[in-house]
Amino acid sequence: MKKRMAYNMNFDWQYHDGDLETTAYESVHETRFKSPIWMKAGNCGVAKWGYDTSHWDNINVPHDFRVYRGEYDPENVPEPEGFLKMGIVWYRKAFFVDKSHEGKCISIEFDGVYRDSEIYVNGHFVGRHLSGYTSFHYDISDVIRYGQPNVVAVRVNATNYEGWWYEAAGIYRDVRLVITEPIYVKKDGIFVRTYMPMNSSKLFRERKEIPSVLLKADIDMGNDTSYEGMLKVEIEVVDPYGVSVMSNYDTVKVDAYEDKIITLEDVIIGPKLWDIDSPRLYTLFVTIKKDDQVMDTQTLTFGIKDVQFTSQKGIYLNGRSIKIQGVCVHDDFAAVGGALTESTIRHKIQILKNMGCNAYRCSHNPPSPYLLKACDDIGILVMDEVRLMSTADEYIQQMTDLFKRDRNHASIFIWSIGNEEMNIHGTPTGVRIMKKLQRLAHRLDDTRPITYGNNCNWYDITKFHENHDFHIDVFGFNYYVNRQFDLYDKIHAEYPDRCILGTENGSGQSTRGQYLPREEELNPGYYSERSKTTSIWANPKRKYNVSAYTESYPLWGSTPLETLKAADKNYVAGYFVWTGFDYRGEIFPFTWPSVISRYGIIDLCGFMKDSGHQYRVHWTKEPSIHLMPHWTFDCVGEEIEVVITANTQEIEFICNGTSYGRKPIAPFEAAHYFVHYEPGEIIALGYNDGIEVVRESHKTASEPKCIQLQLVSDYALRANGEDTIMVQVKVLDAFGIDNPSASNRIDFQVEGVGEIVGCGNGDPLCHDHDHNHHRALFNGLALVVLKTTRQTGTIRLTASSDGLMSDTMYIQVTEKADDQLVPAVKDATLEVYDTKDAADGGL
Ligand code: GAL
Repeated sequence: MKKRMAYNMNFDWQYHDGDLETTAYESVHETRFKSPIWMKAGNCGVAKWGYDTSHWDNINVPHDFRVYRGEYDPENVPEPEGFLKMGIVWYRKAFFVDKSHEGKCISIEFDGVYRDSEIYVNGHFVGRHLSGYTSFHYDISDVIRYGQPNVVAVRVNATNYEGWWYEAAGIYRDVRLVITEPIYVKKDGIFVRTYMPMNSSKLFRERKEIPSVLLKADIDMGNDTSYEGMLKVEIEVVDPYGVSVMSNYDTVKVDAYEDKIITLEDVIIGPKLWDIDSPRLYTLFVTIKKDDQVMDTQTLTFGIKDVQFTSQKGIYLNGRSIKIQGVCVHDDFAAVGGALTESTIRHKIQILKNMGCNAYRCSHNPPSPYLLKACDDIGILVMDEVRLMSTADEYIQQMTDLFKRDRNHASIFIWSIGNEEMNIHGTPTGVRIMKKLQRLAHRLDDTRPITYGNNCNWYDITKFHENHDFHIDVFGFNYYVNRQFDLYDKIHAEYPDRCILGTENGSGQSTRGQYLPREEELNPGYYSERSKTTSIWANPKRKYNVSAYTESYPLWGSTPLETLKAADKNYVAGYFVWTGFDYRGEIFPFTWPSVISRYGIIDLCGFMKDSGHQYRVHWTKEPSIHLMPHWTFDCVGEEIEVVITANTQEIEFICNGTSYGRKPIAPFEAAHYFVHYEPGEIIALGYNDGIEVVRESHKTASEPKCIQLQLVSDYALRANGEDTIMVQVKVLDAFGIDNPSASNRIDFQVEGVGEIVGCGNGDPLCHDHDHNHHRALFNGLALVVLKTTRQTGTIRLTASSDGLMSDTMYIQVTEKADDQLVPAVKDATLEVYDTKDAADGGL
């Protein structure tokens, strides 16, 4: 039998919208008092078997209750609420724990609950967690009813914000129940890291293999028994190809109920390095034995890599100079909001990888563990970030928890101790806090540097830090202090031995597929008061039109090409573009009826914007070109601006058969053409050494005739009831040309082993409920998100629309679920169940 069981607890929850007027139940003190939770132990009636929840909704987690409600309302707050109201809600779930588990350690783990949650089990308060972003867990062994139904209830008070962007609310990440023997490896109790040999830089320079690395593994163990004596701890390392390459053990003496940390060291010969181009992962197996009997086993993956931050040449990854081509991202997506499952996260990361992005900044909060797993697997470097810069116990704990949870991940290359803490960062208080956090970071992880997203007048603030003896590992700068693009040179001249990283850049705004002004947005009344003084419309012709041309940004921002150019200096390690994807809230410069930000270089559905393509062109090594706009307009004779971006030496533009000539294109410049629109075809060609190496073209589409469904997610689907399936929806004309301005409403139906989660179209003005089974295309595109059930088989998706030929798609789900669900009460043998015990919570 497996020693450690981790049960999936995501299914079959109940949800109550709003606080509960009474939490009372028929037990001691409860009949006389409405809310007797804090009077006696075990007094929370909601968390008792038998409490009436018949009027509650049945839901599964991850659950974002703001998107679940889906009520966009101008009475709510634009930023950060995104016009979706916050609130207090309750969740409740019943589960069964077998009698045989009595005496073991049972804990409940939450990857993330937004926010200020109180957790009760069988009437007992088991913990309160303030942060909406850090993971947490509670040992509930004492209050479990063995061999009987158990109930967990969670009160979520999401009435306050932690950020200024859209934040999911509720139990929006996974929940699990973990059962171990009472001698066990603690949660996040392993820290494995490797150290390169002293001469590694020389070896990398000479392109020689690294002969070996030193591995150290700290293992933090709990002993919840009266056992006093020796424990044996074994480790085994398996390389990325499944070969066991190292094993070692040590013994340690424990006293009764004593926890112990043990460190094992050994050498890995001929390490296979983790890289963005070859994300090779090792596996560490840890076993604890008592008298040769296995007590616990734990497995985790890690990577071996070498990252050097230099002052003159930026970052070296495994001896190779690379530029950080990163994006900042918030957790949001069409159809699901912030309730991102593992597969949805993977989909987002794969889109970034496909466009040549190589780094991700978790802005500005601890991420889902699945985010780091996806980046480990796919090969994306991560800047992991704390939510708030403070040395209060609460935040020291949050930072410690974050580091302990995440520090084994291969993808993390730097930590961020905060972002734009304008109240303090230029003051002695800020310096004291930053020094302490830097010390803490180094203690928690001696292998990675830290940075901080410094903004506003970061030039002076940095000097202030340096003069007050605060020397951060890596200078992190957000933007260029109101577009002073020469500031990097200035600070580099001042501190030539320091490394510079653009922690946040860009903030260009654009609307996917929107080239001509949109009536609804031309009214200045739709713009926030603040935007009137802080918005820049680089092209006065398109003032009040956040078009797809990527010409609008706030005072501190820049266009994609300006952003790329500003960081094109050897001594700059790279940059993180604000933002990878659109997200709800932070709708600057707009106000109602806008509900989604325009900062993304990819929209909320994962569809690339032109800004995304401009980055792609410069992030890919292969010859790349981008041509905008599309060529399906109804404004015959009017002037249309055509823009070409390329990474080739020369380009050529051809419109309806006429060439505008071949010409050189400078890096980070675009070629602009002004053409009187006639239907037909436009082509952009890229040349290197006089030879055509790449081309892109757009043809005019006629009337839409049929719907086209296309699967855009590409991972193997598991029948786990959670894996999402992303299907892109377009309409085509009679010649198969897709119509990029279409707005047809499409209806979706699913049969077989799948369900519709919801839809999206990326339109910042769309107020449809995310979970609807229909959507109008926005500028020719929509997304329908499906999910698997817990059965393998075929999913049949049909899309239909008035006047259009339908399309049907078949999707195979072949892999069985690899998880185990926590036993449900209905599955359990209830012979031992006694009603008296149930009524008073088993006390
Ligand atoms: C930055 C901030 C981000 C976002 C961005 C918008 O200053 O760090 O969170 O608000 O501005 O441009």
